[in-house]
Amino acid sequence: MDRIRIFGGLPLEGTIAIGGAKNAALPLMAASLLCEESLVLSNLPELADIATMEGLLSQHGVAIFRGAAERRTLHLNAQRIASTTAPYDLVRKMRASILVLGPLLARCGHARVSLPGGCAIGTRPVDLHLKGLERLGAAVSLEDGYIEARAPRGLKGAEIVFATPSVGATENLLMAAALAEGETLLINAAREPEIGDLALCLQKMGAGIDGIGSDRLRISGVKALSGAEHSIIPDRIETGTYVIAAAATGGRLFLTGTRLDLLAGVARALESAGVSLTQKDGVIEVSRRSRALSSFDLVTEPYPGFPTDLQAQMMPLIAIAEGASVITETIFENRFMHVPELARMGADIAVHGASALVRGVPRLKGAPVMATDLRASVSLVIAGLAAEGETVVNRIYHLDRGYERLEEKLAACGARIERESDGA
Ligand code: EPZ
Repeated sequence: MDRIRIFGGLPLEGTIAIGGAKNAALPLMAASLLCEESLVLSNLPELADIATMEGLLSQHGVAIFRGAAERRTLHLNAQRIASTTAPYDLVRKMRASILVLGPLLARCGHARVSLPGGCAIGTRPVDLHLKGLERLGAAVSLEDGYIEARAPRGLKGAEIVFATPSVGATENLLMAAALAEGETLLINAAREPEIGDLALCLQKMGAGIDGIGSDRLRISGVKALSGAEHSIIPDRIETGTYVIAAAATGGRLFLTGTRLDLLAGVARALESAGVSLTQKDGVIEVSRRSRALSSFDLVTEPYPGFPTDLQAQMMPLIAIAEGASVITETIFENRFMHVPELARMGADIAVHGASALVRGVPRLKGAPVMATDLRASVSLVIAGLAAEGETVVNRIYHLDRGYERLEEKLAACGARIERESDGA
């Protein structure tokens, strides 16, 4: 199994190109199931999760090919749907597989999708997806570990009020409603920029959607959608990860191909810690305003609040700030698994329920640590870059699900970092 070895304590200096957003690309790829014509997606990141989604869509019958000269452009054609079943083996690899449920049901009147189990960061139910589809007229049952959804006479527009904002449920319902008869109103919808990106693409495919960017989405369903071309928005979580890495190492990075406005609550939190963030001519510049970082409290929230997907990365930064900070995780119940690993590196963190009290220490020290999920893995990499001495991050396969060429990008900015395989 691969591991990453880091000799820490060096400031990151240089330029990093940010890729397209994984969490926008996955629903956009699923949207190809909605029509017979080709959906052409550009600015696609090269990640393990994207390959998993390609595998899932292929077995549904989607013909997929990459631009010969442009590897980041994917052509997806779902003229013929070969199967409406998303099997356990693929869904268990990646929970985002649930995003084929809405499109398959809306297009074919039937979908059978393995129920995703819990995962490292929490139980993660899908009840909001299912209740929403029922509101659109589907009959939904659970059989042998599979969600069986049927709507042989098609879906019908309805008003759906989400009990809590869910990114995936909003995306599934948005896609399903695009082919439903009549109008659908999604209330208390999630507002993450990736949802806006999906909505813009669905508009290009012919769906009528109002309220993009708000928590009330009005969708006018159409009988059939057409093909479209769409460029995926920059990955705000990859952006935030490198911003935090620059701040944690006391370096200066220039980030290209991304947008500061996508960081919303993250920029505010970092500025209060003493990090300077500016954007000029489409390039984000990040550095520390002063040598020392200040403590600050942070609560994860749905967009535009501070994203749960950057909470783990913030932890090593806060761990070396002056004073005490409280980090509260409100989205997932089990997203502090990086804490005991950071403690091995000298961080002083006490977890009480959903909150972590972080008392700043002058420095972290390198140690062997174990990665648990995608964002926890990269938080340990950031800790290793900021720490004195050598850190070995074990079990890093999660990283390849969400970070493209991570070691290469960091090494080009002065980090001493390398990947090792067993036997290497
Ligand atoms: C998306 O997951 C992201 N994944 C996650 O990215 C991200 O952490 C999460 O949104 C929150 O921002 C993709 O976009 C592919 P949710 P999703 O439904 O859609 C509860 C990463 O590291 N809930 O918004 O699964 C749920 O348990 C990751 O890239 C229900 O109760 O998240 C959670 O507490 C991991 N019932 C909250 O809502 C439901 O039916 C928000 O989850 C659905 C969700």
